[in-house]
Amino acid sequence: MYDVQRIRGDFPILSRKVNGRPLVYLDNGASAQKPRVVIDAMTQVYEEDYANVHRGLHTLSTIATERYEGVRGIVARFLGLPDPEEIVFTTGTTEGINLVSYAWAAPRMQAGDEIVLSVLEHHANIVPWHFLRERQGVVLKWVEPEPDGGLDPQKVIDAIGPRTRLVAVTQMSNVTGARVDVAAIGRAAHERGVPVLVDGSQGAVHAPVSVPDLHCDFYAITGHKLYGPSGSGAIWIAKARMAEMRPFLGGGDMIREVTRESVTWNDPPMKFEAGTPGIVQQIGMGVALDYLMGLGMENVAAHEAALRDYAMERFRGLNWLNLQGTSKDKGAIFSFTLDGPAHAHDLSTVLDQRGIAVRAGTHCAMPLMAHLGVSATCRASFGLYNTTAEVDALVEALELCHDLFG
Ligand code: ALA
Repeated sequence: MYDVQRIRGDFPILSRKVNGRPLVYLDNGASAQKPRVVIDAMTQVYEEDYANVHRGLHTLSTIATERYEGVRGIVARFLGLPDPEEIVFTTGTTEGINLVSYAWAAPRMQAGDEIVLSVLEHHANIVPWHFLRERQGVVLKWVEPEPDGGLDPQKVIDAIGPRTRLVAVTQMSNVTGARVDVAAIGRAAHERGVPVLVDGSQGAVHAPVSVPDLHCDFYAITGHKLYGPSGSGAIWIAKARMAEMRPFLGGGDMIREVTRESVTWNDPPMKFEAGTPGIVQQIGMGVALDYLMGLGMENVAAHEAALRDYAMERFRGLNWLNLQGTSKDKGAIFSFTLDGPAHAHDLSTVLDQRGIAVRAGTHCAMPLMAHLGVSATCRASFGLYNTTAEVDALVEALELCHDLFG
């Protein structure tokens, strides 16, 4: 049984107060809180097992290397993948997608080649492709969302043409929580010989993921949204795509041999990991993923679906609340504005005074904001430790905002 009160006890920060009120943390879309096991594991490494990895034969370096390298297997298991060697460590999805842009896409794309992407994308899955547009004349083909904020996979598939070299699409909007049927897109793109990149930053946090079922080539995750440390992350890259990639960052660890005249590369995945990595961060991410697998991602998904349904029911009574995105399969991420003059930042400030943490602004998704015709929204994004009582606290605070600003 999913005992949310017991689970909340695993997260020390949830017992603190903010502005004299119990913390109601609804900014999980930006970054999730960390369970005690992650915090303790990172402290333990620093106190007992810390050294650089891959560089020493001494005892501590061997222990640190084993723990760090072991995380590739944990990531692979978490994503339903058989081969840890296809996992490249990154600092998060942003770095993962930039790696693909520089190391795989840039050398392969000519002026007039196309990348298909959706208006739901986060800037991390937009700006690296704008680099190719600016520098190489690559064309970005945008797919519009549906009126309910979802994305019709058929429209993405229809956008694939003879010059399409990549489809880059999110699995879940960080603004509206809309889920995208990336498997349908991946299957059709592969039938047309087009590789697919999936931004799993939100998708992997809220439901079980089996990457082989998605028919993609690249799948990126971010550790700090997965209840792990900031600065941790990974990208799965299909072996065939890895073989096509040139290195991205140069430095230690990613080489086999360096002479005055030449350099040869280490084997993947280390070919794509230069310099001393985020050793303790990645170990912390591994502990966080083990924690999630211990809870069972299907249980997390069921808990959050119940929160979503409860919140949608409560929001239905608020006819001055403008919810952005109501697609059927959305997750428990809600972006909204209120009728009246209140700016999203004003709402967020009032909520904060009541101990409620939300994000206000454009959520690193300006093309989506432009499409929705709003300059900013307030976003409440729920996670595995949130409760229906916290939905009630949010609704009560929004009613207060309505009284103040409405
Ligand atoms: N990508 C993070 C968010 O959606 C920062 O808030």
